[in-house]
Amino acid sequence: MNAGELAGYAAAFRRDGFVHVPGVLSAEELARYGEAVDEAVASRKAGDTRRLDEKSPYEQSFMQCQYIWEDFPAVRPLTFHPKIGELTAALLGANKVRLWHDQALYKEAGGRETEAHQDQPYWPIAEADTATVWIPFAATSDETGCMGYVPGSHKGEAEFIDIFGTPGDGKRLEERYADTPPVFVHCEPGDVIFHHGFTTHMAKANRSDRTRRVYTAIYFADGSHRGGERPHPSVDRDGIAIGDVIDGGATPVVWPLEGGRMPEPEPWPEMGMEWRERAERLGIIPRRAG
Ligand code: SIN
Ligand code: NI
Repeated sequence: MNAGELAGYAAAFRRDGFVHVPGVLSAEELARYGEAVDEAVASRKAGDTRRLDEKSPYEQSFMQCQYIWEDFPAVRPLTFHPKIGELTAALLGANKVRLWHDQALYKEAGGRETEAHQDQPYWPIAEADTATVWIPFAATSDETGCMGYVPGSHKGEAEFIDIFGTPGDGKRLEERYADTPPVFVHCEPGDVIFHHGFTTHMAKANRSDRTRRVYTAIYFADGSHRGGERPHPSVDRDGIAIGDVIDGGATPVVWPLEGGRMPEPEPWPEMGMEWRERAERLGIIPRRAG
C-alpha cells in the first residue's frame, strides 16, 4: 500500500471513527486463516454443547474466543500480519503498535444482533489510541450480520453499555445517535474494517443458515498507560499498575516486528481471577496446560 493510500484511510478513520479497506487479504490467505480460526473455535468450544436458545442473550450474539493467537499458532500470522500492522500504525499515527487482544466472533446461524456499544469503556487503557480490525472470512451483508458504525461517534462521550448482562442496554446509544444513523458496511472476501475504540458500533442479526465467521484484533499505540482499576487479563497478567506503560508479554508489539519475527506467547500466571474457571470452561481464554 503506498503512502497516499495509507494517508487517505487515516483521514477517513480520524473523521468517521471507522474505515473500510477493501482487498487487504488474498483468497489464499483468507482460506488458510479462516481454517485456522475455525479450528481454534471448534477446539475451544468443544465442551459447550448448548443450543443457541439455551445461551444467554449476549452469547446469542456470537461465540467468543479470545487470545487464540497464543494456543493456535496457525492464527498468529494473521494477528501479526504486516499489512494490517502497517495500516493500524497509519490510522493511529503511531510508530509502534501493540496487541491488546484478539478474538474470534462467530455469529451462529439465527444469532442475535450485537447491540450498540463502544469498546473502550471495557478496557483499562488511559489513552484513546486504539483500533480494532474486523476480518470476515466470507462476504458480509445485512442478512449475515454485517457491522454498523455511527460516523463521528468516536468524538462523543464514552458510556459503559452492559451488553453482557442487560439486554436492550444498547438502545441508550441508539437513542443518543437518533439523528446520525449507523452506516452498515458490506464486505467482500479479503476486505477488513477498522474502528476506533470509542466509535459506537453494532452488528445485524444473522438471518442466514451459515455462521458468520469473523476474526478481530484490538491494537493500541505503544507507550499507552493503564488507565484504571477495571480488571483485564491484558494488563493483569503482567502486573501492570495504574499509570504504568502497558508493555508486557500479553500485549506484544505487532508493528514493526523486529527482524520480522513474531512473538511467542507468555504463560498465563495463576491470577485467581474469579471469572477464570468459567472463561476457560466456555473456551473464552486458553486452557491451562495439564
Ligand atoms: C460483532 O462482530 O458482532 C461485534 C464486533 C464488535 O463489537 O467489535
Ligand atoms: Ni465492539
